[in-house]
Amino acid sequence: MPIRNTSFLDACRGHRPAQTPVWLMRQAGRYLPEYRAIRKRVSFLELCRTPELAAEVTVQPIDRLGVDAAILFSDILVVFDAMGVAVEFNPGPQLPKPVRTTADIAALRWGDPVDEVGYVMDAVRACKRALADRVPLIGFCGAPFTTVSYLIEGGGSRDFLEVKKLMFCEPVAFGRLMANTTELLARYLIGQIDAGVDAVQIFDSWAGALGPRDYQTHVLPHTIALVEAVRAHVPAGRERVPVILFARGNANTLALTATAPADVIGIDWSIELDDAIEVVGSDRVVQGNLDPGVLLGPPELIRERVRATLAAGAGAKAHVFNLGHGISRFTDPDHAKLMVDTVHGL
Ligand code: CP3
Repeated sequence: MPIRNTSFLDACRGHRPAQTPVWLMRQAGRYLPEYRAIRKRVSFLELCRTPELAAEVTVQPIDRLGVDAAILFSDILVVFDAMGVAVEFNPGPQLPKPVRTTADIAALRWGDPVDEVGYVMDAVRACKRALADRVPLIGFCGAPFTTVSYLIEGGGSRDFLEVKKLMFCEPVAFGRLMANTTELLARYLIGQIDAGVDAVQIFDSWAGALGPRDYQTHVLPHTIALVEAVRAHVPAGRERVPVILFARGNANTLALTATAPADVIGIDWSIELDDAIEVVGSDRVVQGNLDPGVLLGPPELIRERVRATLAAGAGAKAHVFNLGHGISRFTDPDHAKLMVDTVHGL
């Protein structure tokens, strides 16, 4: 059956639908009481590994907010299951054994994520059944750099010194780690596409940790290789799926990120959307970029900022409305709904 609400996919493909489509990064999560109710019973990882529950949580924001796309409930770090690397969430991610040396890198396993993270492929199929063609489903993974950074740092980081140490002291080993990770991530996203996702988003949450030259030398070629590998895949009996690249960086890395042949360039909230469109070009489709903090403000401010972001988005080839990073757990769900309704109303 064809998907009934096509506004998101139309915009991704460069058309301007009658209504600007909208979804929110992290739209299924702790700001929703119905999510917290399920999390009382199961841990975050159990939730990710139980396809029927992951599907239930994926659909929650579709029912409550009326967004135009669903995003698979999972995490960018579960792919470590295919590499033999353990990860815990308390609630931030922690790796008991981070990858710091060339010996650690040599000990990594490069399993097939379609088999070894098969519960994600099952979750995609469960989500498609639960959505029943109401809205498209977005699959995702971390970009090579963000994924490798978690491997090396073993969790969140402020200065990324372990990553930089390895990158500068062992550039060949670091490059090989990035290349192998890129291949694994391509296989992982293609698996999600074959399981049924309608679009994919690559999250480079930590792209901004590097200066522009190091980003260009050590990171961007791998990001581009991943985008190209995924775009080269045409699923049986369906159209090629759009690729969204979201790099959280700074104004200097955005111009470089935009050289990647992604269908949609995600814009973080650190730049005004009209300035971002000037950087990426008015012939590109953009996604973003309301500061998630604005949803903690009063309703009138939310309406005003949505109006301004939509007006700026009119300068792009097409615009997918979104936040400029994940929604905060402290957000009132009614404020998220106000944002969605305002986008649709204008
Ligand atoms: O967008 C969605 O609704 C889909 C689900 C999703 C999650 N994580 C669920 C999650 C997606 C797309 C992600 C991606 C992700 N995970 C990123 C990239 C996006 C970004 O935020 O930059 C990153 C860096 C991670 C790694 C990660 N996972 C972190 C840093 C944390 C802790 C976050 C926190 O606020 O404590 C997680 C855990 C996580 N992933 C939660 C959720 C809903 C909270 C876990 C819980 O329920 O306790």
